[in-house]
Amino acid sequence: MTRTARPRHYLMCRPTHFEVSYAINPWMDPSKPVDTDLAVAQWERLHALYGELGHRVDLIDPLPGLPDMVYAANGATVVDGKVLGARFRNAERAAEGPAYLDWFRDQGFTTRDPEHVNEGEGDLLLTAGHVLAGRGFRSVTAGHAEAQEFFGRPVVGLELVDPRFYHLDTALSVLDADRDEIMYYPAAFSPGSRAVLARLFPDALLVDEADAEVFGLNAVSDGLHVILPEAATGLAARLRERGFQPIGMDLSELLKGGGSVKCCTLEIRAAA
Ligand code: ARG
Repeated sequence: MTRTARPRHYLMCRPTHFEVSYAINPWMDPSKPVDTDLAVAQWERLHALYGELGHRVDLIDPLPGLPDMVYAANGATVVDGKVLGARFRNAERAAEGPAYLDWFRDQGFTTRDPEHVNEGEGDLLLTAGHVLAGRGFRSVTAGHAEAQEFFGRPVVGLELVDPRFYHLDTALSVLDADRDEIMYYPAAFSPGSRAVLARLFPDALLVDEADAEVFGLNAVSDGLHVILPEAATGLAARLRERGFQPIGMDLSELLKGGGSVKCCTLEIRAAA
């Protein structure tokens, strides 16, 4: 299959204030040291790579006291140029929602202040036919309904059951939205949700635990290049077989907060 890259528009947030000072997912351990300078250096490489691949990246100013703000994917969801703000489950991240929404408002986007908990693209992923929506640990069903009403696109709720994969974007990744092509780790989902995914995406790439555990699914694809954690070597080989060009990145410091490539990357999808 011929793969082609489509230029993207991303929003990122430099991890200037990154640290692990609280634990809201099983990856976070405040007693373990974090090297903020190394986190920034690793993040800078990801940022530079997007530029080299021809993508546009905007930056939002990091705010002191919000160490998780680097995980820009959680900041909002943007479909057809419409921005649904995020509302976080945990108090530690609550102020990030308005911070991201203000950025979008300043840029002139149509925005919605969310009523229900949704953690942005951490749990809301766009395919051609649907918005795939995670719940179980963070975003809630009412937040999915709110997204469906706001975007006017069918939302498919998916139940996450393994706390290591607490956001949808740690268990599932969209490889080619136009072709409705995805990859996922089946054991992260309830039996019913697994059946829904099998029905909607019979040709999906099924990822094994070894690749999922190193956050291999926390990947960003432009239709040709798939940027993913470099430790997911098995997955990289399988992506190559499918005609993609995997690019492995070392984001080990940011993994200490429970995030990697995709978590650091919010996609801005313009109005058609
Ligand atoms: N420490 C953050 C949290 O637990 C990590 C978020 C990762 N982001 C993501 N899109 N999965 O909320």
